[in-house]
Amino acid sequence: MHPFPAVDPIPLPAPIWLFKLLHIVTLALHFVAVEMLLGGLLLAVVFSLFRSSPQAHVAARAIARRLTVVMTYVINLGVPPLLFAQVLYGRALYTSSVLIGAYWIAIILILMATYWLLYQFSARLDAGKSAWHIGLGAWLLAGFIARLLSTNMTLMLRPEVWHDMYMSSAAGIYLPTGDPTTEPRWLLMMAGGLFISGLWMIYLAPRSTFTADEQKFLAGVGGKVAAVCGLIYIAAGFWANAVQPEAVKTGLATHPLYHFATFAGFGWVALVAVAVVLGAYAGFGKVAAGWLAWAGALVALLIEITFTVYRDAVRDLTLLSKGYDVWDRVVVTNWSVVGLFLVLFVAGLGVIGWLISVVARAQKVMEGAA
Ligand code: HEM
Repeated sequence: MHPFPAVDPIPLPAPIWLFKLLHIVTLALHFVAVEMLLGGLLLAVVFSLFRSSPQAHVAARAIARRLTVVMTYVINLGVPPLLFAQVLYGRALYTSSVLIGAYWIAIILILMATYWLLYQFSARLDAGKSAWHIGLGAWLLAGFIARLLSTNMTLMLRPEVWHDMYMSSAAGIYLPTGDPTTEPRWLLMMAGGLFISGLWMIYLAPRSTFTADEQKFLAGVGGKVAAVCGLIYIAAGFWANAVQPEAVKTGLATHPLYHFATFAGFGWVALVAVAVVLGAYAGFGKVAAGWLAWAGALVALLIEITFTVYRDAVRDLTLLSKGYDVWDRVVVTNWSVVGLFLVLFVAGLGVIGWLISVVARAQKVMEGAA
């Protein structure tokens, strides 16, 4: 019996390569925001513990304030890849989502609680009150959401366990066990959080709204965090790769299309290594410089893109080995709708650019000001 539900008879309205391109781009941006949230929050919690250090306090406040904005990007950049993933992988993704339905739907409530705690965390820091326990609560909830997403994104690749899970309960109350890929995947995202947030601190460091001491603190600690966690990030990446099934490893080595993803994998390792060097330079020299800020930001973006390309190949090859070919769909392109979508997409990017320019021109207030 074929494990996947029957394909929807309605053809796809745009080429598969276009869906995949948009999926990868938007998902990579979602990952940038997710990593800033997961790592930035933990760093802000740690800084908030050092209440006697003025620099640590200002750093905690500066990060916490921005995290409420970062959260909007986590959510808004999560919706597009969810839609594209449902179009491309719906028969697998809907099934796994239903099987863990109670947890999957609970993400909305957990997300709202996380968001609320983030505002509380920031407000308490601004008021000079103890806030670490609130921030830690928000981080635990965000980490749990990440865990549920890793669980679903790996369960969708295991049609062989779906039947037994459904027979155990049709209420979606059990989480799957026994998948060797879930743990390293989740850890990869969590370690990546600290790494990317270290780069984020290097990015923030040269701002004129920080005093010279605060700039040194941000560059020094951020750089060291990026350097050390970059090495852990690479190790987690190798682990996540090592536990992939043989079919995926063979596919990456020989498949005419997915073979190219191996270059993205090598690129990812090389870029993280570059970021580790940048981090060490900023961290040990306590250098807050504009070129370092932009170099770190660019490398971070490229790291998430190469990571997402490789991850996408791992998913396609895993599904292919189980009889699901993502390219095997009837396509009847509706070019007028595709054109309209692309026009609105570019216009949307323009509006975001304008918003950023307004923020950049706004009157600057020192981060440590009461
Ligand atoms: C605190 C909030 C969130 C966190 C910490 C988070 C974290 C993550 C993580 C760790 C993954 C990777 C899972 C893996 O493959 O191992 C992921 C993937 C994903 N997230 Fe988020 N996420 C959050 C919110 C959201 C929201 C609100 C949405 C959508 C509305 C969303 C949509 C997605 C999608 C669609 C994927 C996977 C897409 C794919 O593989 O094609 N996320 N997220």
